Amino acid sequence: KSEFLIAPSILSADFARLGEDVAKVLAAGADVVHFDVMDNHYVPNLTFGPMICEALRNYGITAPIDVHLMIKPVDSLIPEFAKAGADIITFHPEASEHIDRSLALIKEQGCEAGLVLNPATPLHYLDYVMDKVDQILLMSVNPGFGGQSFIPQTLDKLRQVRERIEASGRKIRLEVDGGIKVDNIAEVAEAGADMFVAGSAIFNQPDYRTVIDAMRSELAK
Ligand code: DX5
Ligand code: ZN
Repeated sequence: KSEFLIAPSILSADFARLGEDVAKVLAAGADVVHFDVMDNHYVPNLTFGPMICEALRNYGITAPIDVHLMIKPVDSLIPEFAKAGADIITFHPEASEHIDRSLALIKEQGCEAGLVLNPATPLHYLDYVMDKVDQILLMSVNPGFGGQSFIPQTLDKLRQVRERIEASGRKIRLEVDGGIKVDNIAEVAEAGADMFVAGSAIFNQPDYRTVIDAMRSELAK
């Protein structure tokens, strides 16, 4: 397998047969399940919580689950998601009163931790935590909905974050989320991303494998 990870966002999956649909996308070659948690408070939409994460585990999903928390406050649900089977938990720093504490809480619960930066969130949120994050997620759309268009300024931001990661000397994944498709994944990778969330691009097609294979061949270029 390549060093690139493809993480389908189940926001665009069929909720009425979620287990089946997630198993199908993993069988089609996806690496990680991207799990978008929205609270109708930090973002203007409402999705699912730890019970659904646990239900996927009970259904037999064993792939890593990447929980993207778009919730405020953050801390109370961290232990819940760890118990429910999350492997990676990321949150938006503006939504946490104590960023360092939230990161430490995620690690204490045995999960990998990361920060998520919105399109207009400054990089200085990373300044004092580069030694504490396993993953950095750059939003390439404003959070809340699937199916939006990739914001091109993200490419420059990705390059800047990639430089910070290299300077840290640590192995930190750089994930990008929003509007990723077969026709832009190569330039997003070139700008420094190594983990790619894609919701509508995968789930809105009848054959998931065709899309994932096409993404991998773009990444191999
Ligand atoms: C947006 C979510 C994304 C979203 C991506 O708030 O964080 O994960 O589902 O969907 P697409 O790939 O359709 O832009
Ligand atoms: Zn997401």
